Amino acid sequence: MSIPIMKYDAVIVGGGGAGLRAALQLSEAGVKTVVLSKVFPTRSHTAAAQGGISASLGNVEDDNWHWHMYDTVKGSDWLGDQDAIEFMCAQAVDAVTELEHFGMPFDRLENGKIYQRPFGGHMSDFGKKPVRRACAVADRTGHAMLHALYQRNVKANTSFLVEWMALDLIRNENGDVLGVTAMEMETGDVFIIHAKAVLFATGGSGRIYQSSTNAFNNTGDGLGITLRAGLPVEDIEFWQFHPTGLSGSGILITEGVRGEGGYLLNCNGERFMERYAPIAKDLASRDVVSRAMQIEINEGRGCGANKDHVLLKLDHLGKDVIEQRLPGIREICLQFLGLDPTKDPIPIIPTCHYMMGGIPTNYKAEVIVPKGDDMEVKVEGFYAAGECACASVHGANRLGTNSLLDLVVFGKSAANSMIEYIKSHQVEHKDLPKDAAKFTLERLAKLNEANHGESLAEVRNEMQVIMQQHASVFRTQKTLEDGIKKLEQVAKKALNIYIKDKSKVFNTARVEALEFANSVEVAIATMVCAEARKESRGAHARVDYLERDDDKFMKHSLYYKDGRKVLYKDVHTKPLSVDYIEPAKRVY
Ligand code: FUM
Repeated sequence: MSIPIMKYDAVIVGGGGAGLRAALQLSEAGVKTVVLSKVFPTRSHTAAAQGGISASLGNVEDDNWHWHMYDTVKGSDWLGDQDAIEFMCAQAVDAVTELEHFGMPFDRLENGKIYQRPFGGHMSDFGKKPVRRACAVADRTGHAMLHALYQRNVKANTSFLVEWMALDLIRNENGDVLGVTAMEMETGDVFIIHAKAVLFATGGSGRIYQSSTNAFNNTGDGLGITLRAGLPVEDIEFWQFHPTGLSGSGILITEGVRGEGGYLLNCNGERFMERYAPIAKDLASRDVVSRAMQIEINEGRGCGANKDHVLLKLDHLGKDVIEQRLPGIREICLQFLGLDPTKDPIPIIPTCHYMMGGIPTNYKAEVIVPKGDDMEVKVEGFYAAGECACASVHGANRLGTNSLLDLVVFGKSAANSMIEYIKSHQVEHKDLPKDAAKFTLERLAKLNEANHGESLAEVRNEMQVIMQQHASVFRTQKTLEDGIKKLEQVAKKALNIYIKDKSKVFNTARVEALEFANSVEVAIATMVCAEARKESRGAHARVDYLERDDDKFMKHSLYYKDGRKVLYKDVHTKPLSVDYIEPAKRVY
């Protein structure tokens, strides 16, 4: 079967913050670029980032990027690569200034400078006291960022393939990446997109959990594709549970609420975070706050008839502050709970929010994998940025607002690396293998031709429940071993998904089945790596290994689909220009 081929210099899979920032840089440099996105770009999940983007502007009080870097290394529980963290924090001020010049409508202080609010783990003077570092557009910062970046891309003539889904990587016999196979979602037609350089900016995979702040289409497509192509994913056992997901639906209630002065209460009306984090209190790092909440609930101090949540109080901020700084939060509470947070506290629970691991890259956003004895060899033509990538700036736990910063810093860095690769080396399109689309077509044929098998909705639900019960805030050897066994059954069923009444359903059923094939790989990778990491670090809290074990585990995990193999590689402890930040106990 002959498959139509589309040719670009650069293809970017994903139209969120990282993809759009990269596309803009590439298009402005005259590189023929296409962005392929499952949804219209301004509907990407970046839109859900509420509270802000971090940069040490020092508009309200003293701040500098060295303090930001220290907080990020400490937040990562010393698993973050210090060269990448320095690269990101040192560029933050320029990145935010650039966004401002792109037209992003930041909130303002009286003096006209960009407004900044406190956020979890943001401290001054190397961890001494909270600092205002989060630059915000009310509680709609990601939404505003996406619109500014999309408009700039329209001006720069970036091409878009909207409602297209990437299916598999195309590699040659050397392992170089030459493009992707992709499906136009409306028609189901498959294409080859042949490129000199491919950037994955496919976002996260938070929908592997039952309770999630993530969009329904955050299904780990980039990671599933990478794993199927024989490449590893890094540090995938580290998942962030955001302390304030709306109880029931999991919808995000921004940390900006606590930044503005909101706080958490247990059923006794106690501000329990004072016991767990005496200095930072409710603005400790997210892993610390989520664990504290879970302990309160587990020990019977949860609220409500089932004692299964805690409360977030903000009415004392007053209606004016809530309407000016947190209008989206009020709207969410009114619409989803019929509750007015200017009067009543919000019921919340820790909810899956962010994937710290991802496709292994360096700070230039080049994909780096082991080859022979060398643990860090570039995969030619392949780049990754944003949540799908592991640069690694977040290590074992990300600080709030570092995600939006990551998107723009590493989106731009990826584009600069691609421009350098394509232009300086005058790279031409490499020859496609004859069977470039064979694997994809076989996968699709199996799905299209199956006339009996498993129900996608049931199997997907099974996976989400297993992840929630076996690999959430607290983990043990038993929960993880049992989780692996249960997921092995799910993986078998995933090979046998059956779309009922194919001629009568819209292609969304097919798309969801293809997405699920990616999610299930991420779920298994998570459980296997979590079982193998016998220590507690950042968001990976093992009840049976309570301490961090730097001797054995200050290492990045690398997981391969084949044989479910796990390797470890060293953390980059050497920053680019400053002194190494020595490991220390994390207290807030
Ligand atoms: O709480 C929030 O507004 C989320 C921000 C983030 O994850 O960076």
